[in-house]
Amino acid sequence: MADTPARIVVTRRMPPAVEERLAASGLDVAFNEDDRLFTRADTIRALQEADGILLAVGDPLDGPLLDAEGRRRTQIIANFGVGVNHIDLDAARDRGVIVTNTPGVLTDATADTAMMLILQATRRASEMEMQLRRGEWGGFSPTAQLGMSVQGKTLGVIGMGRIGAATARRAVLGFGMRAIYFNRSAVGPWDLPAEARPSIEAVMEEADVVTLHAPGGGANRGLISAERIARMKPTAYLVNTARGDVIDETALVAALVAGRIAGAGLDVFAHEPEVPAELVALANVTLLPHIGSATLETRTAMGMLAADNLIAHFRGEPLPSRVV
Ligand code: DGY
Repeated sequence: MADTPARIVVTRRMPPAVEERLAASGLDVAFNEDDRLFTRADTIRALQEADGILLAVGDPLDGPLLDAEGRRRTQIIANFGVGVNHIDLDAARDRGVIVTNTPGVLTDATADTAMMLILQATRRASEMEMQLRRGEWGGFSPTAQLGMSVQGKTLGVIGMGRIGAATARRAVLGFGMRAIYFNRSAVGPWDLPAEARPSIEAVMEEADVVTLHAPGGGANRGLISAERIARMKPTAYLVNTARGDVIDETALVAALVAGRIAGAGLDVFAHEPEVPAELVALANVTLLPHIGSATLETRTAMGMLAADNLIAHFRGEPLPSRVV
């Protein structure tokens, strides 16, 4: 590293082991002890003062911000997370700013969350829990509170990358589901039975549960459109642990309110942390606050990988996971 240590701004509180690692890295690191969300002005100041920034999904970065009023010092943005749709990658590329992310380390935690939502949605777990908490449970009933068994049902995976495949693996090998998928490019072979379909429409029509694992932003914004939602069986469920903007959220709300599909399990929303009031009011929807990767182990691994990218950059070493 150079004699004067590179200055790093970390925009969010990190798990303790990550902060310890960064503090011992030889870099000059400014932490966010209060975990206060950065405003645009804070981000501009950070871009003007820091050589590297470690940020996360709640920190949007567009071209004008990256210009930092003509005084940008930052060379590298290390994103805490695999999804980088909050960063304008073209703007970063045009300006020669490096962007890294954290692939691989959150695959299991996110696939676990997808499986949890599949089970919660099909077994009406949120609705049943709310019923109990409100004191409305009248005792065991052979015919009330029934959900749908997943065994023998078809899981439709949109985006068969690491997390999509890990979710299919859980569903097929652990829960006796059958998996079909659509992926933009050819993928496989798989260590589990999973059949490709030629289009998103084909998956939406055939699946009993559709699970989304396509990246957000760009061409994927509104990928699960009103027309595609309309292709789903009325008995089918939609699960999203990818990004909220992958679904036309207004169309999904309309389909759920009209009872056009059986239910949904959502961990991500188009305008986080806002969640449409109609969704909050619906019984047949399980809602989680973007916790797909939220285990201490996984968040620590994500922070460590983000730190690895920063440290490697300032040592002039190859970056473990560069996006731009
Ligand atoms: C990810 O890694 O993309 C998670 O959603 C956290 O942002």
